[in-house]
Amino acid sequence: MSHHIVIIPGDGIGVEITAVARQVLEKTAAKAGLALTFEEKPAGGTAIDKMGVPLPEETLAAARQADAVLLGAVGGPAWDQVAPELRPERAILGLRKALGLYANLRPVKVSPALADYSPLKPELVAGVDILIVRELNGGIYYGEKGSEKDRAWDTEVYSAMEVERIVAVACQAAKVRRGKVTSVDKANVLATSRLWRQTAGTVAAKFTDINLDHLYVDNCAMQLVLAPRQFDVIVTSNLFGDILSDEAAVLTGSIGLLPSASIGDGTGLYEPIHGSAPDIAGRGIANPIGTVLSAAMLLRHSLGEDEAACRVEQAVEAVLKDGYRTADLYRPGFTKVSTMEMGRQILDRL
Ligand code: NAD
Ligand code: IPM
Ligand code: MN
Repeated sequence: MSHHIVIIPGDGIGVEITAVARQVLEKTAAKAGLALTFEEKPAGGTAIDKMGVPLPEETLAAARQADAVLLGAVGGPAWDQVAPELRPERAILGLRKALGLYANLRPVKVSPALADYSPLKPELVAGVDILIVRELNGGIYYGEKGSEKDRAWDTEVYSAMEVERIVAVACQAAKVRRGKVTSVDKANVLATSRLWRQTAGTVAAKFTDINLDHLYVDNCAMQLVLAPRQFDVIVTSNLFGDILSDEAAVLTGSIGLLPSASIGDGTGLYEPIHGSAPDIAGRGIANPIGTVLSAAMLLRHSLGEDEAACRVEQAVEAVLKDGYRTADLYRPGFTKVSTMEMGRQILDRL
């Protein structure tokens, strides 16, 4: 059976990093005897320039029909002044919503080779292995919005059903990890958070061997840098998850390392957690590892190819162990490589 993958390179470094991840998928497939077909589609600023909209119909239609979607990143200063409903970021928000991708899995794992690359002390970050489960189809991202001349508003809405299904994803994930779920909210202030906290308790109680605790988001932000190893699975709302995952990326040494999987009702979408990095775009120096590890998540979650996914993850680990570093992680004494060269080193170890 053949699997069809839609690749959306997007903007900025998205083009450079998806090219590497595609090669990794191609080689992994060849090794594992998997038949994969690929199709590239426009979205984001590139699509605005070419077709006038951030998420063209043909891209959405292709995503719906695909077995999985791999996305680089969208956005950039060139499109910062366009109307809000036409911004490049709308492509991602539109895909997540249209495909019903309510669960965003963001693993934050400190590589043994990089334990002293975080600005935090190595003894704090060594062994960190956190899964952030971010709600992705609701909250303040999708509530009613509006603006007048000197007033603007965004509203946060959550239904019990939306909280139930994301907390269930977190508990399910924790069952095959260390069994601990930390639900993060702002229940001392927000009504949505009070519903969140109560619902999380009810859902977790239905799982055996799950230890649920609750943290306010401000405290969680602090705990993440104070004692990150206390966390196993963190489950939280769309906005809190966005912010906490960029913070948690610092534990690993670079945001360029972090992958994600967005899953739910429709085709799974896989993307690094970082953006289009306009400050380094077009120079061939971006770290492709977050996208390569997103491709591994694609193999695991959408294609059921766990072994192939593990091979990709092991190849990445081996390259880091062997001292290859893109600019974001480079230090004297190590081998500095471009985006493409990092890709070649990963391919060599597959
Ligand atoms: P960013 O994640 O693009 O960049 C933040 C910093 O991290 C920059 O210094 C960048 O150089 C660095 N960085 C990011 N990825 C890297 C990589 N792979 N290798 C090395 N360094 C890397 O965040 P930003 O600058 O706030 O946003 C830039 C644009 O990207 C904005 O338009 C934003 O809306 C968009 N964005 C898109 C996505 C997405 O497509 N999923 C995610 C976040 C931001
Ligand atoms: C992310 C990004 C997106 C988000 C933006 C680009 C819409 O920051 O995937 O983390 O806020 O979800
Ligand atoms: Mn983000």
